[in-house]
Parts: sequence; structure tokens; C-alpha cells
Amino acid sequence: MATAAIIGCAGYSGQETLDRVLAHPELEVVALGSDSLAGEPAAALDLRLNGHLPAFVPNDEALAAGADVVFLCLSHERAAAVEPPPGAVVVDLSGAHRLADAELYPAWYGFEHPRPETLAAWSYAIPELFPAEGPLVANPGCYATAALLALAPLVDVIEPASVVVDAKSGVSGAGRELKPSSHASFVLENLAPYKVGAHQHAPEIGAALGFPICFVPHLLPVRRGLLATCYAQATTDGLRARLEDAYASSPVVRVLPEGVVPELARVQHTDAAEVALFEDRSTGRAIVVCAIDNLGKGAAGQAVQNANMALGLEQAHGLRLNGVLV
Ligand SMILES: NC(=O)c1ccc[n+]([C@@H]2O[C@H](COP(=O)([O-])OP(=O)(O)OC[C@H]3O[C@@H](n4cnc5c(N)ncnc54)[C@H](OP(=O)(O)O)[C@@H]3O)[C@@H](O)[C@H]2O)c1
Repeated sequence: MATAAIIGCAGYSGQETLDRVLAHPELEVVALGSDSLAGEPAAALDLRLNGHLPAFVPNDEALAAGADVVFLCLSHERAAAVEPPPGAVVVDLSGAHRLADAELYPAWYGFEHPRPETLAAWSYAIPELFPAEGPLVANPGCYATAALLALAPLVDVIEPASVVVDAKSGVSGAGRELKPSSHASFVLENLAPYKVGAHQHAPEIGAALGFPICFVPHLLPVRRGLLATCYAQATTDGLRARLEDAYASSPVVRVLPEGVVPELARVQHTDAAEVALFEDRSTGRAIVVCAIDNLGKGAAGQAVQNANMALGLEQAHGLRLNGVLV
């Protein structure tokens, strides 16, 4: 068994990562790190956690526990300050190591990167498109994952300036800590864009595609799930074959048959992704839609998939992919 430590376990993505590790046949939890829950038993996070899990320890202690794989589930700024334990696979779910250029951090993330010289050591990794090349893995953002699953296989056959990504996410995308924008009275029966033209996932999508894109996220009145509708002018035919080729061997990403639309309900509570291609009858534009769970393929599922690949394990171990939940 390989050993795992989860850092910042009290948040949504920490809890979801723990869920995947508990279902994993070849990973064992050795340390649950949480500064807010240090000293508490695992059940303090969720009553369903009982029995043989270790109690929470401060994040620094969990980082030093000697785990084979460390999942960083912290806010961007806290993750940026972490020194990776030598020899471990480290998967960072935050944005702290996604941008190669440290000078972009003040504008897009609102802080100076504290360890700019370390950024080159991290791989930005989506297993189906660009697997990690070393033990330090920057797990992509939830919106970026959906946009790149839709667009990256088509990057050579679309007009860069035509690309628009319109995406919507459930409120868990904002994390467990309470903010005015996650109050039920704001979210329920409402739909609003936010960070219009200024969301921090735009530069990572642009860097992965090789050109900047126009991106607007929206907050959906649901707990979880994310849907990205991507528009692009194609320069050739054969887009469907490119998508099908890209994901033919993936246990995670499903290209839907012609005419079938992705749905949040089929991906919520899973680590799967659905991708579908359409052509706009009026303009001929390609429309590629991708649905994922923001906490699944958008966070914990992809983090465990990336960890599996870095550890040489079966990529789908621990992932939630089966079932036909309503
Ligand atoms: N939510 C998503 O859908 C999603 C998707 C992709 C990536 N991410 C990224 O993953 C990272 C963590 O996001 P998140 O959504 O898990 O954020 P979150 O739920 O707000 O948790 C973030 C951190 O807050 C700390 N925390 C302090 N007080 C807390 C409290 N009362 N309840 C819960 N947590 C508390 C936890 O650290 P301690 O345990 O040390 O106290 C936790 O690591 C972020 O960088 C985010 O951008 C999130």
C-alpha cells in the first residue's frame, strides 16, 4: 500500500479527496492535516468518519508524516507557501502552482508568489491530455478542466480569436467557508455571472491552449456540478473524430453520441466527464459542451487520477465512475 496525507482536509476538496482515498484499493491514509480541526477525531469533519482513521494534526505535521503522496487542499495563498516534502508525489488542488509565470499571480490571484523560483518544477496535468512529467503536480482548476477537455483536442483546427467559454458551476465551487455570495438567499432562485472577464482560470486555459480565450463563469443555484459551453469557429471538418480519438481509451471522459446533450445530473457525485459536439445551424460555429462535477473531475477525482499516474497505479483507482444514480 502507498501512503497518503491530506493537507487542509476540513475544506470541501479535502473532504472529497479523503472520500476517494478511502475508496482506493492501494492507498492508505497516514495523516489528516487540518489547522482548524487539529486535535479532533476524524468524525469531527463528518460523522460518517469513524473507526480506524487517525485524528487531525496540524498541516505542518501532516506534511512531515513521510507519505508517498500528499494532496494539498488549501487556499491558493496557503498552498503557495508550502515546501513539498522531498521524495513525495505532491498534488496541489489550488491554483498556486498552475501558472508558470510568477508575475501573473498579483493580477489574477491577488498575491505575490512567495516561491516563484519553484514554479518550473510543477507539471500542469490533465491525465487524458497532458499527463504530469514529475512528482509535483498542479491539478487544473474546475472550469479549466471542463474547458480544456472540450477544446484541447481541437486546438489545431479552431480560430483562436473566435473561442468563447461560457461556464456555470454549483455553489460548492466557492468552498466551505461562508461568503456573502454563497448565502442561500443570494444563490437560490438566482443566476449571476461573476469575475466577468477576470476569473483566475482564464490564464491557465490560455496557457494550455496556446492562445488567450474569452471566459465568463456563472454561479448556479445547485450544490455541485459544472457545465462549460465552448464556442469556436472551426477551420476544417473532422472535429468529432478528434474528440473521439482523444478520449477513446479514457475510463473518465465520455464523448456523447451525436445529438445527446451533457447533463449535470449524470456527472454530479462522480469523477466522470461528458463531452458533446454540435454545429450551430446559423453560423456554422462549433459548440462543444462539457459537464463535470466541480468537486470530482474538477478537483478530488482528477487529483487522485493524477496521483495514481504519478505513482504508477491504475489511473481510475479510487474514482467514482460507476452507477446510474438519478
Ligand atoms: N471547491 C471546488 O469545487 C474546487 C475545485 C477545484 C479546486 N479547488 C481548489 O481547492 C482549494 C481548496 O478549495 P475548497 O473548495 O476545498 O475550499 P474550502 O472548502 O473553503 O477550504 C479551504 C481551506 O479552508 C480551511 N478552513 C478554515 N476554516 C474552515 C472551516 N470552517 N470549514 C472548512 N474549511 C476551513 C481548511 O484548512 P484546514 O483544514 O487547514 O483548516 C481548508 O483547507 C482551493 O485552492 C480551491 O481553489 C476547489
